[in-house]
Amino acid sequence: MSKSIQLLLLLLIVLSGCKKEKNIEPFSPEEDFYGDYNPTYISPPTLTYLPPMRNPEFNKMSLEGVALGKNLYYDKILSTNGLSCSSCHLKGESYSISIMGPTGTAVLPHVNIGWHQYHGWNGGEHHLDDVALADLAEGNPFLNANNDSILNRFKRNEFYQKAFWKTFGIKITELSTPERQKYISYALAQFMRSMVSGDSKFDKYMRGEAALTSSEMNGFVVYMDDNRGDCYHCHGSAGNPLWTDGEFHNNGLNSSFSGVDQGRFLVTGNPADMGKFRTPTLRNIALTAPYMHDNRFATLEEVINFYSSGLQQSATVDPLMTHINQGGAQLSASDKADLLAFLRTLTDSTFINNPAFY
Ligand code: HEC
Ligand code: HEC
Repeated sequence: MSKSIQLLLLLLIVLSGCKKEKNIEPFSPEEDFYGDYNPTYISPPTLTYLPPMRNPEFNKMSLEGVALGKNLYYDKILSTNGLSCSSCHLKGESYSISIMGPTGTAVLPHVNIGWHQYHGWNGGEHHLDDVALADLAEGNPFLNANNDSILNRFKRNEFYQKAFWKTFGIKITELSTPERQKYISYALAQFMRSMVSGDSKFDKYMRGEAALTSSEMNGFVVYMDDNRGDCYHCHGSAGNPLWTDGEFHNNGLNSSFSGVDQGRFLVTGNPADMGKFRTPTLRNIALTAPYMHDNRFATLEEVINFYSSGLQQSATVDPLMTHINQGGAQLSASDKADLLAFLRTLTDSTFINNPAFY
């Protein structure tokens, strides 16, 4: 072989090597590629005052499943629009990116949702294990998912092939599309169940580990007072770390309803549900501006002013909005400031900074 041919060959080998790295070929796993299937099952995290979260037998949490779910949550591999779940749902602060979902509703935070009976503003979905199926549906605007491309990406990805095997004992690239979507959704649900927050200043106060300032304490009293804030009926009180009753209410935002403002009615078709929304959690509320299903309020001050004097009458407005006839309880300036101070005690910076979630 002449020197120049040797060089040419070398060059070709180098070039093809480069090409391989840039565009990894799908590979066929060897016999022993997958290794053992022996997941380490774990109990779902707990919160004081609450019963254990619902964790169905068919998707028991495991260390492997939570880790797999976390990877998927942060990976653009599920989208064709360059987004991941975390692009919209990332930690507390970033819901403040005032992007709304393409459906015109505000992004909901993933905190303690393992206890929720319903998901979404209108409660259209009951099972956390299935929630991501909607995101994975072809043409869904959130991720613009394309199931062929997801499959092709998995075929090139050793990590995911092994991780699905180790979690569920399945070969993800050999499943039908619905089955593959199911297991992706299961893994994501495991990660979302793991995102539990119970270490806000108010939680610490309840455990006797922190004291509230007098303003924060008065704010809590206002929150609990039927004649002032009267917030606890829907958003729960000290013994409910979810800070929501999980029920559907019309809290007086609108006097007439069209489009997304119709809320629960869009799911049930029942006129009694017009304008009702699942009560959102107040946990980390200071971090999740803007507010309400349509992001209409930019600040908590605006929210408090709304409850104090901006309530709108309508046929389905909740009977618990007892001050509706005068537009709200007309809180004093100091009660408003104290209520705000109290709401800020619901911020859990341990959660926000927990590397297990980010
Ligand atoms: C483009 C933004 C966007 C992306 C990307 C996105 N979501 Fe969402 N998500 C939303 C919005 C908006 C809502 C509220 C929808 C509604 O109820 O109207 C929501 C709601 C949810 C809920 C319900 C939360 C609750 O409190 O009930 C879950 C769970 C969820 N998303 C999971 C995911 C997962 C998992 C992914 C990735 C596979 C994902 N989302 C990707 C915007 C997004
Ligand atoms: C009758 C039940 C009810 C009462 C009483 C109530 N709320 Fe609400 N709250 C809701 C519902 C339902 C929503 C969601 C409404 C929507 O987006 O259309 C909501 C939304 C909110 C939000 C925005 C949450 C988010 O993530 O965007 C905040 C903050 C809030 N309420 C605080 C309060 C405070 C403070 C009080 C007392 C002054 C109070 N609420 C009283 C039911 C209630």
